[in-house]
Amino acid sequence: MRQKHWAFLTLFVVVLAGLTTLVLSRSALAADGSQAASKGNPYWGANHFPDAPLITQDGKTVKFYDDLIKGKTVVINFIFTRCGNVCPLETAKMVQVYNLLGDRMGKDIFFYSITVDPKHDTPERLKEYAEKFHTGPGWYFLTGTKADIDAVRKSIGMEERPNEDPLTGHTTSLTLGNEPSNQWFVDSSMDDPRYVAVIAGDWLSSWKYAKKLPSYAEKPSLDPSEAGPGASLFRTACAACHTIGQGDGIGPDLAGVPTAREHAWLMGFITHPDKMLEEKDPIATALFKRYNQVKMPNLRLTDKDAEGLIHFINSRTAALNDSSKTAAAHAPAHSPSQTN
Ligand code: HEC
Repeated sequence: MRQKHWAFLTLFVVVLAGLTTLVLSRSALAADGSQAASKGNPYWGANHFPDAPLITQDGKTVKFYDDLIKGKTVVINFIFTRCGNVCPLETAKMVQVYNLLGDRMGKDIFFYSITVDPKHDTPERLKEYAEKFHTGPGWYFLTGTKADIDAVRKSIGMEERPNEDPLTGHTTSLTLGNEPSNQWFVDSSMDDPRYVAVIAGDWLSSWKYAKKLPSYAEKPSLDPSEAGPGASLFRTACAACHTIGQGDGIGPDLAGVPTAREHAWLMGFITHPDKMLEEKDPIATALFKRYNQVKMPNLRLTDKDAEGLIHFINSRTAALNDSSKTAAAHAPAHSPSQTN
């Protein structure tokens, strides 16, 4: 997952699409699930999931099947808090899905982020991690014994693969499911959060809560600066933590950053922020202290990716400056130079 990250991700999504179809056709056998429920769920029910004890970020012990799965719509992923590459992005993308699901979170929909590093990730560390991402009710960060976590991973088809690094090798996909209706999906955590929210919020509750959405005919035209590879990479890999001109998120607002920072510094920081922090680069160190000690992740981007992203951030910043000039209103943009 670490090398050639994006190419692999694409391949992964294709494979998962196939898997999803398989999973769905299997669940279709259970008709609407009600017959299954009356006899006890014969598919992915008590007979399938371990009732392993896991511990939440608040130190409460819960049983995997009885307390976390039975009767619920769930989104499950695997993380570890020391992760400096894709997990923080994965968690930030789940925050976007969480916000879209709104007050259904903790009522009929639950998120479970289970650590693959139980020795290090105590409930206290998980709580600290959850707080950094401002997570809310209905989202549990779980730890337990390695044997119990392995059993849980196995039950949803995400077990540790032979020869994989036990920490960094784990899959970054999400398992989404609804136990009573036997519907289970696998999706990439890098997917558009609006799509993931539709799977969790609408499909898995048989469209009971689906809202009428505007027609494609009413779609607004695409701003030219939103096209191109930099724009789409920004949406997938950066927008969960950064805005350009709409204020700070988990990371700083990036409007104006390309002019406030040297090009070489930006190229270095976008491609290997972890190394710059390790080498005690003064700007990277100041930013890390200021942004709640969430690490800007190393997403294994190439120089070409970084050039495309800087170009996109530049053009969005220029478009913002133009529109603020037109409106003759000078909203002060976040000034990254303050951290110098
Ligand atoms: C998981 C959240 C997260 C993601 C995803 C993320 N960043 Fe960041 N970024 C941060 C944080 C937090 C900081 C502040 C520095 C730190 O804490 O390490 C930061 C800092 C930065 C900075 C320095 C800002 C300044 O003031 O100089 C740039 C540039 C940047 N990010 C670009 C990107 C780009 C481009 C992407 C997408 C490829 C991206 N980031 C993805 C969290 C994230």
